Amino acid sequence: MNLEIAGNVQGFKQQDGILTIKTAEAEARVYIYSPTIIRVSISKNFNPDDPSFAVIRQPLADFDFDESSANIDITTPALKLSIQKSPLRFNFFTAAGSLLSEDDARFGTNWQGERVICYRRLFEGERFIGLGEKTGNLDRRSATYVNWNTDAPNHTPESDPLYKTFPFFIGLHSGLTYGLFLDNTHKSYFDFGASTDEETSWFGADGGDLNYYFFGAQGVAKIIEDYTWLAGRMEMPPLWSLGYQQCRWSYMSADEVLNIAQTFRKKQIPADVMYCDIDYMDDFKIFTWNKKTFPKPKQMLDKLKAMDFRLVTIVDPGIKVEEGYKEYDEGIEQDYFAKYPDGENYTGYVWPGRCHFPDFFRGEVREWWGAAFTALTQPGVEGFWNDMNEPAAWGQNIPWIVKFGDKFMPEVRNAYGMQMARATYDGTRKIMGNKRPFVLTRAAYSGTQRYSAVWTGDNTGTDAHMLLGQRLVNSLGITGMSFIGVDIGGFSGNPTPELMVRWNSLGAYTPMFRNHAIQGSKMREPWEWGKNNEQIIKKDIEQRYKLLPYLYSSFYQSTQTGLPVSRTLAIEHSFDGNVFDERFQNEFMFGDAMLVAPVESTKLTEDVYLPRGSWYRLSSDKFYEGEQIVNVQAPLTDLPVFIKAGGIIPMQSVVQSTNEKGDGILQVHVWNGREANSFIYYEDDGVSYDYEQGVYYKRVISFNPIEKSLSLSSVEGSSKSRFMQLKFVLHGFDGVKLQEEIIENKSGEIEVKL
Ligand code: GLC
Repeated sequence: MNLEIAGNVQGFKQQDGILTIKTAEAEARVYIYSPTIIRVSISKNFNPDDPSFAVIRQPLADFDFDESSANIDITTPALKLSIQKSPLRFNFFTAAGSLLSEDDARFGTNWQGERVICYRRLFEGERFIGLGEKTGNLDRRSATYVNWNTDAPNHTPESDPLYKTFPFFIGLHSGLTYGLFLDNTHKSYFDFGASTDEETSWFGADGGDLNYYFFGAQGVAKIIEDYTWLAGRMEMPPLWSLGYQQCRWSYMSADEVLNIAQTFRKKQIPADVMYCDIDYMDDFKIFTWNKKTFPKPKQMLDKLKAMDFRLVTIVDPGIKVEEGYKEYDEGIEQDYFAKYPDGENYTGYVWPGRCHFPDFFRGEVREWWGAAFTALTQPGVEGFWNDMNEPAAWGQNIPWIVKFGDKFMPEVRNAYGMQMARATYDGTRKIMGNKRPFVLTRAAYSGTQRYSAVWTGDNTGTDAHMLLGQRLVNSLGITGMSFIGVDIGGFSGNPTPELMVRWNSLGAYTPMFRNHAIQGSKMREPWEWGKNNEQIIKKDIEQRYKLLPYLYSSFYQSTQTGLPVSRTLAIEHSFDGNVFDERFQNEFMFGDAMLVAPVESTKLTEDVYLPRGSWYRLSSDKFYEGEQIVNVQAPLTDLPVFIKAGGIIPMQSVVQSTNEKGDGILQVHVWNGREANSFIYYEDDGVSYDYEQGVYYKRVISFNPIEKSLSLSSVEGSSKSRFMQLKFVLHGFDGVKLQEEIIENKSGEIEVKL
C-alpha cells in the first residue's frame, strides 16, 4: 500500500473567496466563513459541486493573507491560520497568538489508498468533547471512534458505532477552546490519542476530501453557536411534543391505544402523545393501516383528539416488494429505489420481508415520499417516527456496490437517515399547512436538527444504560441536537420497579420524554409498577408539566443560539476537572438554571459535584456553596436537582395535557443570588408557524440583587400570553414576602421591589 503525503506547496492562487494551494500530490482549499470559522479542504480530486448535507452557509468573499518564504498566514479578527509551505501543514492560533491546534509536524495529512487521515498534535492535558451519540466518557481523550450509522440493538455502554454520525468535536487545552467539524459522510475515524504515546490525535475518512471547518471562538457555548450557525438550528417544536409520550412496540389495536389514553385521563396522569409502532400497518407496508386492528383510523384519531392526545406513527424506509401495494408499484414505475450498478433494484430484508429502499438522495424521491404522508395526516396523525434508517437490513451489511443517487453506499450511508428525515419533514410540513409536524429519527448526520428530533435507539433496562443515555443526550447537545429522547425504562429487558421510577424522574428532565419498550416485555405504563410507584411517577410527570413555560423558552433558546436544552457541565465549566470525573460526568444543566444529577436506582444517597456559583436544592431550597462535592439524599421520590443562585424559572399549574390552560397564572420562581440574572421568556401558539410572522410573546425576566428588584420587560411580538396573571415565588429571600401576591400579567414593563 502506498503512502501519499500532502507534500510541499508548489503554488497558490485566490479566486472567488477560495485560496487554492497546490502540492505535487494534492490541492488544498481555504475558505473563511466568519471571523471564527475557517474551512480547510484537502483533496487529490475535488468534486466541483462541493456538496454538503450539513452546511447551510456560504463563505465570505476574498480575504487578505500574508506570504513569507515559510508560510502563508491568514488573519481574521479572532483567528490566525498559519499554513506552512514545506511540508504543507495547517496550524491555528488565536488572533493574540496562542496556539489552538496544529498538524502533527511529522505527518500532517496523507492518504493510504482512498483513506485520508489528518494527524494532529496532542496537547498536554488536552480534553475532547463531542461526536454526538458516542459511548464512553464525557472526556474522549484516549478513546477512539468510528462513524458508520448502524442498527445497534442490544448495544452496551461501550459499543461503537451506534446509529448516528456527528463528526464534530471540541478540543480543550491551556485554557483555550477550539472546534473541528469534518464534513465527510464516508466511514470516518476519530482517535483522541488512544494508542499514540500521548503524542498524536487523528481523524479522517475512508474516502472523500479531508474537508473540515475549524472553529476558533473562545468558549464552548460560542463554538456551539458557531457550529449551529453553520449547520442550522432546530425550529420551535410543537408544544404537545414536549409533553409526556407513551409508546410501545406495539399497542396492537385502536382499542388498545384508546384504552391506554383513557387510563391516563382516568388516573389523572398528564400525557400528550400516544404512538403506533409497526403493527398498525397492514403487513408492515408503510403508509397503510391494518384493516382488522385499526379499521377506522380517523375515528381513532378523533377520539384521541377529544381526549387531547396526539398520535405519532412509525415509518421505516423498507418498502415491501408486493405488486398492488401503492408505494411499491409507484417506486418501481418511477424508478425511485436504490440500485445495483446493473440497474436492478437492491432487495434487503426488514420487518415486511423483502424490501426495496427509497433513494432519499434524489429530490423527486424525497417529494414522492413526503407526499405519501397524506395516508397518515388525513386521519389526523401529526408525528412521524423515522426508524431503521441507518439504513438497517437483516444481516446489517448492505453491499457496497448498491447505489444511492450517483454515489455508492459507503460514500453516503451516514447521511441516509438524515435525508429520510428531511423528506419526511419537508413533505409533512407541506401537507399539514401551517401546522408543525413532529419528526423523530434514529439515524442522523450533522444538520439533522433542522428537520427532526432524535432518540438514542434500542437501549436496555439497566442503571448503566440510564446513565449512558444521559451521556448520549449531553453529548448530542454539543453537536447541535437539542430535541433528544431515550427510551425511558430501557427498550430491551425489564427494568426493576425502582429503576423505572428513577428513570422516569430523569425523563422529566429529558428534552423528549418518551416511555418505550420492546415487544414481549412487561407493560411499562405508569400504573404497571404498583400503587406507590404510580404516585411517584405521576408526580414526576406533573413536574414536567409545571416546567413547560421554562422548557418551551429553553427550546426557544436552542432555536436562537443552538445551545441545547440538556447541557453537559463541560459547556460552562470547560476547565473544571471535576466535571469530567467519572463520578460526576453525567450531571447536566437542564436549561439555564437547573442542575440535574442522575442517580442509579440502587443508591439512595449520592455524591454530587456543584460547580462554581451557589446552589439550592429544588425540593427543599437548602443552600449550598459551589465548587464542592456534596453528599445528598436521593430517595426515589426526589432526584437531586439544584437551582443556580439567581435562577429564574417560570412555571405553571399542573395540567393533564398541553392543550389545557390550567389556572392561567404564570409563576415566576426566583432563587436569591449575589449576581444579576435574566431569562428570555417565550410563548407562541405552540402549533403553527405564525411565530415566523411575529405572532409570539417574548419578554425578558430580570432579577437584580443590587437594586433589589424583579422585572419583566415590555412584551415583544404580537401574540397574547396564555397566562392572564402573574405570581412571583421567591426562594432564599429571608424575610421578603411576595409569595401570595397575584398580579395582572400586563404587557408593559412590570417591576416589583424586594
Ligand atoms: C427498532 C426501533 C424500536 C422499535 C422497533 C419496532 O428496534 O429502534 O424503537 O420499537 O424497531 O419497530
